[in-house]
Amino acid sequence: MAQQEMSFSWFSLLSLLLFKVFVSGVFSLNPNGSEYISAVGDPGMRSDSLRVAIEAWNQCNEVGEEAPKMGSPRAAECFDVLNSQKPGGNCSACTRVPPSLVHRVTEEDNLLGIGKSFDGLDKRALFNPDLYAAEKELYLGSKCQVDDKPNPWQFWMIMLKSGNMDTYAAKCPKNGHKVGPFGPPSQFPCFGKGCMNQPLIYHNYTYLQGPNETTLKGSFYGSWDLDSGLSQTSVNENMSYYSVTWQKELGQGSWIFHNVLKTSTKYPWLMLYLRSDATSGFSGGYHYETRGMSKIIPESPNFKVRFTLNVINGGGPNSQFYLMDMGSCWKNNGQPCNGDVTTDVTRYSEMILNPATPSWCKPDNPKLCPPYHTFPNGTRVHRSETSRFPYEAYHLYCAPGDGEHVEQPSVPCDPYSNPQPQEILQILPHPVWGEYGYPTTKGQGWIGDPKTWELDVGRLSQSLYFYQDPGTVPAKRKWSSIDLGTEIYRDANQVAEWTVSDFDILVPNKN
Ligand SMILES: *[C@@H]1O[C@H](CO)[C@@H](O)[C@H](O)[C@H]1NC(C)=O
Ligand SMILES: *[C@@H]1O[C@H](CO)[C@@H](O)[C@H](O)[C@H]1NC(C)=O
Ligand SMILES: *[C@@H]1O[C@H](CO)[C@@H](O)[C@H](O)[C@H]1NC(C)=O
Ligand SMILES: *[C@@H]1O[C@H](CO)[C@@H](O)[C@H](O)[C@H]1NC(C)=O
Ligand SMILES: *[C@@H]1O[C@H](CO)[C@@H](O)[C@H](O)[C@H]1NC(C)=O
Ligand SMILES: *[C@@H]1O[C@H](CO)[C@@H](O)[C@H](O)[C@H]1NC(C)=O
Repeated sequence: MAQQEMSFSWFSLLSLLLFKVFVSGVFSLNPNGSEYISAVGDPGMRSDSLRVAIEAWNQCNEVGEEAPKMGSPRAAECFDVLNSQKPGGNCSACTRVPPSLVHRVTEEDNLLGIGKSFDGLDKRALFNPDLYAAEKELYLGSKCQVDDKPNPWQFWMIMLKSGNMDTYAAKCPKNGHKVGPFGPPSQFPCFGKGCMNQPLIYHNYTYLQGPNETTLKGSFYGSWDLDSGLSQTSVNENMSYYSVTWQKELGQGSWIFHNVLKTSTKYPWLMLYLRSDATSGFSGGYHYETRGMSKIIPESPNFKVRFTLNVINGGGPNSQFYLMDMGSCWKNNGQPCNGDVTTDVTRYSEMILNPATPSWCKPDNPKLCPPYHTFPNGTRVHRSETSRFPYEAYHLYCAPGDGEHVEQPSVPCDPYSNPQPQEILQILPHPVWGEYGYPTTKGQGWIGDPKTWELDVGRLSQSLYFYQDPGTVPAKRKWSSIDLGTEIYRDANQVAEWTVSDFDILVPNKN
């Protein structure tokens, strides 16, 4: 692990300059300077200085138990590039000093785990792996935070999750309520005791490399198989694996995040996402205070998401590759969530890009369809209108487990895989989404068809069906997590590989 530590004291004096660099980037994607502004801290991933973190969740979005010698599964890499040479400037001494990286998070910070105290740690969290991870995220955030308008921001978040669940261990609540052991666990993979472990997380700190030392490159990588023998250099072919490598040419273009995810026999259900999470409050699926990149929370119907996606390897037929995955939270009565897991409901919507993904919403079996579809012109069509309802546009809809007036027939969402009940609406490429810039036919944007997307996620997400109790005021749809990535569902030894760059969220400029 090559830790590039700050060694010159005058670097800190220059950190004010960096702050300016970040702020001046804010309006860069808005040629008119008026209509839209970026909601993320680093619009389009264009700043040489980087803020990125990684988190790992078990089946119900907690830690449960830390992996041996790995500390709490939260880590970050945040650095500023100090350019000694100003463009057009004349400084004879400077020309001999290459740009330097000042890392804000040390290896020691990243290895913090239960039993180890740090500034600001609540004593109740010291020996509780779930609470400790949540507080470690805040601590790492404090080291990475960049002051900005209207809010400071911290980092992009790489999220890892394993779908393994030991139902006999009774670690996950059911729709937010504690439940005892049960089994056999037919709906969940588990190889036995300890199957819900956290992954190994290794880190290659970013440094300048390449023939001219102008390429910034670093990574997080690891495996869930604790006996994988994964060292820094080798990967056993039958073991699970993930890596996220970020790379950028100094002063040019976007960061390119290169992602690899491989499932194994013991870990056949794995997820890897790159998230723009809220910088405070809750983020999608996480019921603790969070840190992230979205300094403004995008709200339907007025926001767009722009990014370049290159899918290199799909991850097999059960890889639910999410062109766009959004997470929000509101109660069934439309009120915003407040952390009460018995009444908060996480709401997710995803476009699944993998052309192998079928539609399970059928005219003769509508239980996995949303009750109605809304066309861009506002026309609503009930799922029983077989001649007009676009069944093929939906993979599935599942209802919140605690919805008291859910239209029947319906299928409740998995009650265990979130700390609170959840509702999920998954869509597929189809002409009805064309109006919003989404793919209209299967295969668009898939392997061999890299694309820069500008999706009208705001309008699309406003039009989607989500449950609320009858007669309640419609919830404000605020998307605290906007992510990209894949979920390989119960399929061992599959490999997905893709890159993400140019990521931005655009919201109307209210000034
Ligand atoms: C810029 O402003 C003009 C006039 O208001 C408008 O027609 C145009 O669409 C805007 N372009 C962008 C990229 O915002
Ligand atoms: C930099 O110095 C060189 C040589 O002294 C001079 O020719 C050049 O004009 C200077 N450039 C600027 C931008 O001051
Ligand atoms: C390195 O710098 C040389 C000279 O400026 C240039 O010709 C070459 O293309 C550069 N190589 C890379 C990989 O950037
Ligand atoms: C991490 O660094 C090691 C040593 O340089 C290298 O062999 C390995 O490929 C790197 N891993 C990733 C995922 O970048
Ligand atoms: C990986 O699994 C395959 C199929 O079970 C087996 O043939 C192969 O020997 C295994 N490789 C290793 C390195 O264990
Ligand atoms: C709205 O759009 C749908 C689907 O394109 C179409 O069938 C319907 O006639 C339109 N309704 C109106 C009022 O334009």
